[in-house]
Amino acid sequence: MSEIDSLKGELQRLQEKALASFKNAADLNALQELRVTYLGKKGELTHVLKGVGKLPPQDRPVIGQFVNATKTALAEALDSAEALLAVKEKEQRIEAERIDITLSGRTSPRGALHPVQQGLNEMTAIFSQMGFEISEGPEIEDEFHNFDALNIPQEHPARAMHDTFFFEASDEQQAKLLRTHTSPVQIRAMKNCVESGGEPPLAVVAPGRVYRCDYDVTHSPMFHQVEVFKVDKDVSLAHLKGVLKHFLSAYFEKEIDIRLRPHYFPFTEPSAEVDIGCVFCAAKGCRVCKGSGWVEVLGSGMIHPNVLKSVGIDSEIYSGFAFGLGVERLVMLKHGIPDLRLFFENDMRFLRRMGVSK
Ligand code: DAH
Repeated sequence: MSEIDSLKGELQRLQEKALASFKNAADLNALQELRVTYLGKKGELTHVLKGVGKLPPQDRPVIGQFVNATKTALAEALDSAEALLAVKEKEQRIEAERIDITLSGRTSPRGALHPVQQGLNEMTAIFSQMGFEISEGPEIEDEFHNFDALNIPQEHPARAMHDTFFFEASDEQQAKLLRTHTSPVQIRAMKNCVESGGEPPLAVVAPGRVYRCDYDVTHSPMFHQVEVFKVDKDVSLAHLKGVLKHFLSAYFEKEIDIRLRPHYFPFTEPSAEVDIGCVFCAAKGCRVCKGSGWVEVLGSGMIHPNVLKSVGIDSEIYSGFAFGLGVERLVMLKHGIPDLRLFFENDMRFLRRMGVSK
């Protein structure tokens, strides 16, 4: 075999070996090493080229073409193997870095309104739908609005019964106090109406916090009341009864029986305490209603002429009804809550059950 043919054969084998090794290269680094092995300065092709120098001069261009063709073939094969591996490696990286978005997320706890606030909102909404206007007075009141104007003069025994928190005051100042009920909002709303040149009809619902110096199983020094009143010509006890029955049935979401029991309040005449048919035992008699079938829920009456007089409304022309209810008491009855203190301890187990936090 001639020298030239053996060189050609050698180149042929080199190319086959190289192409096979490119295909099997595991990654880009291995490929880079193969590039050096075959095409590098000290590589195999250079080694073969050294044999070309030994050929007779006329044979050199022929084998030179062969060497160049082999070089080009190897370079191209390396480039395409490199491109393939680059794509493969990218796919592997994407696969490895993939985030599993099918995992359900962690929910963050959601807040909600306190059960007393929920009750307050529900009650206010019912009166609002009946056409009563919402009004709020200050929690720091004076004796005029909290007592005098409500027909509770100094030395009246009802004052002592209110267990009032007073602020310190000098003799010439009017004593300030934490309001003991929401009834002073009656006075403020009626005075506002008269002083701005208006006149009845006036229908108001006044929700809010009240304070009494009292604490036991059924009393808290701070609690909530809703005060409701209406002043117009020819307002009668029948209107009061109708509004009460509608409100209580709407709040408890069922037909509620009511009973008005004669009572005494300084700011109403006549006055009545209102009982509802026990919502726990269907009026059969249980622990909550102490066997009577009736539960007391609020105080009410026809606004006393002295109260109307104190705000400049003519009691010969106008009359009105009023009532005030304890919010916590009604919420307890509606949801079967046994102890008033649960509202103020903020035990998460109770609040969660009442829907404050999921
Ligand atoms: N203000 C009374 C209290 O806190 C409740 C009340 C009774 C309000 C009779 C009224 C009413 O408007 O007519 O005990």
